[in-house]
Amino acid sequence: MTSRFLAACRKEQVDRPPVWIMRQAGRYLPEYRALRERAGNFLALCTTPELAAEATLQPLRRFPLDAAIVFSDILLPLSALGVAFSFPDNGGPKLASPLSRDSWQALAPPASWEAMEPVAEALRLVRQELAPEVALIGFCGAPWTLACYLLSGGHDADWSRARQAAYREGEALLELLLLLGRAMGDYLAFQVAAGAQAVQVFDSWAGVLPAELYRELAVPALAALASCLEPLGVPRILYLGQGSHLLAEVAELPFEVVSVDWRTSLAEAAAITGKAVQGNLDPAALAADPPTVRQRTKRMLAQAPPRGYIANLGHGIWPDTPLEAVEAFVAAVQEVP
Ligand code: CP3
Repeated sequence: MTSRFLAACRKEQVDRPPVWIMRQAGRYLPEYRALRERAGNFLALCTTPELAAEATLQPLRRFPLDAAIVFSDILLPLSALGVAFSFPDNGGPKLASPLSRDSWQALAPPASWEAMEPVAEALRLVRQELAPEVALIGFCGAPWTLACYLLSGGHDADWSRARQAAYREGEALLELLLLLGRAMGDYLAFQVAAGAQAVQVFDSWAGVLPAELYRELAVPALAALASCLEPLGVPRILYLGQGSHLLAEVAELPFEVVSVDWRTSLAEAAAITGKAVQGNLDPAALAADPPTVRQRTKRMLAQAPPRGYIANLGHGIWPDTPLEAVEAFVAAVQEVP
């Protein structure tokens, strides 16, 4: 059976838009919280293939989604580059120490992705369990977003270190971004070899850069990343956080799909990039009662292009989201209008 999700990525005609949810495996699901408890901590959950596969499948057992995304994190493959980090219980990932220019210039691409074998095994386990029409997505962080974490050492409200580096030492930063781009492209190819049928590159913090710097620094690194996947023929999705001003910058990049948040219009994203589009309901909208969620979702669908559209949220689902709201969102996309 063909996948509605893969068809929409290629802008083929589909009976209805496919739907999945960014960060669909996570704390809003009681069964995820139980699994994480069983694993002991988040990293153990990511690196134990049977548990990561189970986390990936949990949302699919509850909702009739059109795609699964392998359970992992954008920081994990950086361990293969020698970067040490942890996931404290609150506040997001923390690096052992933020990278300075000397330490980032010493980074080397990994000779192999053997260290990420648990992710490959999780992909294989998930593919065995999934219905044939459900697509399996692999992912990584975009070079710029990874550099934000590497230079700041953890989450930062305005990513000042990476942004300052972009002006102060742009040439050296470009070298780091290109290295990350080649490494992540190679890592995604490794995920495709293990069964990923499409890949998503998360540029969550794209929007903090002005268009000119995005063009000079982020775009060449994304081009290097995407070109590693060219021979594999899988759809490539680029998630652009707060990226309305960057649509023209990414139009020529070899990604088939652009994923946008609620600040960017779906119609505009499609018109400016010429790509298939994914998104873009505000995750906060899922705090409303089910009829309101349904109504907001219908309004989103009305803005979407007739071909080349994948329904999703505009960013990851929030941990306090009620399950009834998720049901209403998915049902509103899937019911015949
Ligand atoms: O279901 C899925 O989407 C697959 C799993 C997934 C996770 N992280 C699991 C996770 C995916 C695709 C990601 C991507 C990711 N990780 C991004 C890009 C998407 C985005 O949200 O912008 C980013 C920026 C990260 C970095 C990261 N990891 C942060 C900022 C945090 C803390 C914030 C939070 O939600 O708590 C994490 C931790 C993390 N990654 C969790 C999960 C389920 C929470 C960990 C836990 O269970 O306590």
